[in-house]
Amino acid sequence: MERILIPKWVLLVGFLGWLCGVAVVVVDGLGVNWGTMATHKLPPETVVQMLKDNGIQKVKLFDADDSTMTALAGSGIEVMVAIPNDQLEVMTSYKRAREWVRRNVTRYNFNGGVNIKYVAVGNEPFLKSYNGSFLNVTLPALQNIQNSLNDAGVGDSIKATVPLNADVYNSPDNNPVPSAGRFRTDINDLMTQIVQFLNKNNAPFTVNIYPFLSLYGNDDFPFDYAFFDGVSNPIVDTGSGIQYTNVFDANFDTLVASLRAVGFGDMPIIVGEVGWPTDGDKNANAGNAYRFYNGLLPRLASNRGTPLRPGSIEVYLFGLLDEDAKSIAPGNFERHWGIFRYDGQPKFGLDLSGQGQNKMLVGAKDVVYLPLKWCTFNPNAKDLSRLAENIDYACTFGDCTALGYGSSCNSLDANGNASYAFNMYFQVQNQKPLACNFQGLATVTTQNISQGNCNFIVQIAASSSFTLRPSLLVLVSMIIAFFKFLFL
Ligand SMILES: *[C@@H]1O[C@H](CO)[C@@H](O)[C@H](O)[C@H]1NC(C)=O
Ligand SMILES: *[C@@H]1O[C@H](CO)[C@@H](O)[C@H](O)[C@H]1NC(C)=O
Ligand SMILES: *[C@@H]1O[C@H](CO)[C@@H](O)[C@H](O)[C@H]1NC(C)=O
Ligand SMILES: *[C@@H]1O[C@H](CO)[C@@H](O)[C@H](O)[C@H]1NC(C)=O
Ligand SMILES: *[C@@H]1O[C@H](CO)[C@@H](O)[C@H](O)[C@H]1NC(C)=O
Repeated sequence: MERILIPKWVLLVGFLGWLCGVAVVVVDGLGVNWGTMATHKLPPETVVQMLKDNGIQKVKLFDADDSTMTALAGSGIEVMVAIPNDQLEVMTSYKRAREWVRRNVTRYNFNGGVNIKYVAVGNEPFLKSYNGSFLNVTLPALQNIQNSLNDAGVGDSIKATVPLNADVYNSPDNNPVPSAGRFRTDINDLMTQIVQFLNKNNAPFTVNIYPFLSLYGNDDFPFDYAFFDGVSNPIVDTGSGIQYTNVFDANFDTLVASLRAVGFGDMPIIVGEVGWPTDGDKNANAGNAYRFYNGLLPRLASNRGTPLRPGSIEVYLFGLLDEDAKSIAPGNFERHWGIFRYDGQPKFGLDLSGQGQNKMLVGAKDVVYLPLKWCTFNPNAKDLSRLAENIDYACTFGDCTALGYGSSCNSLDANGNASYAFNMYFQVQNQKPLACNFQGLATVTTQNISQGNCNFIVQIAASSSFTLRPSLLVLVSMIIAFFKFLFL
């Protein structure tokens, strides 16, 4: 009898291993950015389960929040934790940097803890629009964090890096080709010192590349060049003779050339962010996002790399979920970068294995929504003199980015606009009855008032204590399966 039981155990372990390891395959080196600037957040445990269900094994964060880290503990998922820009200045003190590392890195460094691989020091700190605010603090912060990691004995496996916007390098206007790439002249010395420090510590360079923004900023930009399915007129780099058919390669190789120019042409490069938004601009929609991702992923899977840097690339998609509380200073699209909607449901077909299969991502499970109620413009309202003012108010606190030109709700009529704004506010306010009045201009309905492509959402319930249920369910079903297996 015992001899029969032992092979069953072995089989069971093998089967579970298969379930965990082989069932969902994604491109090697693929990760996602998990931002949390949302009015209603999915419970971190739910998000971690989504990552697992989709086989995603790397995640990049924008802070080191306790609840996120706790949810990631034991998952084996590789994590890039981050120090936000507004904390860079205090990290110029070695003592504070050491505390940060102790509190937010080494504390999680135990068997069953968090598998931290990188610390992102700042987020695009040299962006031109920051007017140089972080120029003096970023390098000292980077040095203090990496030195603290080294002193804590984890520097071999955990590297500090600075995710930079692609605007830290460019090619001259009179020779706009990748091979002529150089770091921006105003920060060339600083970039050189950063690269030297990264190199000394075997740490990678991290860059965010956004073909969508190339297109957004420039109506003359050749549309197809933002994607990966070829262009009729490739751009020929006269310096290298290479033909470029997409802006991702051209941009990446401009960085390779910039690194070469300062003597570090072989430095490892991570793409910290790349993606395509689905709303908030005429080019931001699910169709273009589908085209972009379903070009990007097969390329990553092929390990072709770029002309100047063949081979696999570690890439983090931006982003995981829509974030309705992000600043829209750069544009309305900012709140629509998710490969998943605000509620963790997939938006378009996406095969993360890069095999080009027509697949949907696995959505968040056991999502708890608010009741099926919407706030709508009250057609019986008499005095409309304060309508505009009330819409403005609603849109200051609710997300109205879908109403803009080229966006999913742009074709609503005036009443539809009002209803959309009122509903977004009502949902943000967790459907509090007083949040759907607007001086008598609004009323609650239980009818789904969505119109065409314009979705009038029902928000998710604020994250609370229901997070135990899914894991308990999994545990119970595993125990049942286990006993069935042993005794049947
Ligand atoms: C650790 O990270 C959290 C979240 O980003 C931050 O609020 C906190 O200040 C950090 N701890 C220390 C000691 O710096
Ligand atoms: C940068 O400077 C511009 C123009 O002077 C100003 O409008 C903007 O608010 C500044 N941005 C920051 C982040 O200080
Ligand atoms: C950075 O340091 C330089 C030289 O010490 C100084 O002139 C400049 O004002 C500083 N910039 C900021 C934003 O603090
Ligand atoms: C609805 O709102 C959008 C965005 O504010 C605006 O562009 C559009 O003209 C409005 N439509 C009507 C019919 O008022
Ligand atoms: C409301 O209707 C829209 C469009 O038919 C649909 O996509 C959406 O899922 C519905 N919302 C809810 C909460 O049922």
